[in-house]
Amino acid sequence: MLFDADNKGLPFNPFKALVAPRPIGWLTTISDAGVVNLAPYSYFQAVADNPDIVMFSAAPQLEITENGMNFLDSGKDSQTNAASGGEFVCNMVSMDLVNAMNESSAHHPADISEPEFIGIEMTESTYVKPPRVKEAPAAIECVVVDTYTVQHRGGNHRYTMTFGEVVGIHIKDEFIKDSRVDTAAMQLVTRMGYDEYAVLEKAFSLSRPDNDPLLSGFVKS
Ligand SMILES: Cc1cc2nc3c(=O)[nH]c(=O)nc-3n(C[C@H](O)[C@H](O)[C@H](O)COP(=O)(O)O)c2cc1C
Repeated sequence: MLFDADNKGLPFNPFKALVAPRPIGWLTTISDAGVVNLAPYSYFQAVADNPDIVMFSAAPQLEITENGMNFLDSGKDSQTNAASGGEFVCNMVSMDLVNAMNESSAHHPADISEPEFIGIEMTESTYVKPPRVKEAPAAIECVVVDTYTVQHRGGNHRYTMTFGEVVGIHIKDEFIKDSRVDTAAMQLVTRMGYDEYAVLEKAFSLSRPDNDPLLSGFVKS
């Protein structure tokens, strides 16, 4: 079947179910007033390495009223805080943290600190001010290096991408095996479409036919 802007052949847009699974960046930021903010973003990805760069993409702030939802002119808290503070932390979400991650996505005003509200323990980061989730299997400390407003051909709102250069990575010791990260052991939660998620728990290895960066020793990672 074909689904496009005119052919509403399905009750829900299949886009997010197909560009899947998407990693979840569970982002910590700090507001100008010093409030620690925590929220999940699945428009989140590694976009470059050496130096390592990640990106998250945020819709405008939502207003939820009795009559429904409206997009406002302002950005969501994670984006606003990352822009003003210049730093964010991407906490990775393991299966045991999935409910806390989901709870932290509720739309709270900027003066509510999600970690306090949902009762999740934070710990200091090393190179940036926003703290990290203590029980996260890994946390990536980032300094904002760029932003980009995503253009389109028409619609009612625009997403803003925030790019962060990685300045530090914390990994729980139990997930380091033979000097490599055992990603599958972390049971990372990923996002699909609708209300669906998937857990990453099985890995397989494949060597490149030529110029394999690992075998050639060209890269350290
Ligand atoms: C798994 C998951 C992924 C999400 N990904 C995004 C995203 O990529 N971009 C976005 O704008 N909102 C996303 N949301 C919604 C935000 O988490 C939600 O609007 C949240 O309240 C934003 O918080 P903030 O204003 O504190 O940044 C996601 C929600 C969930 C549960």
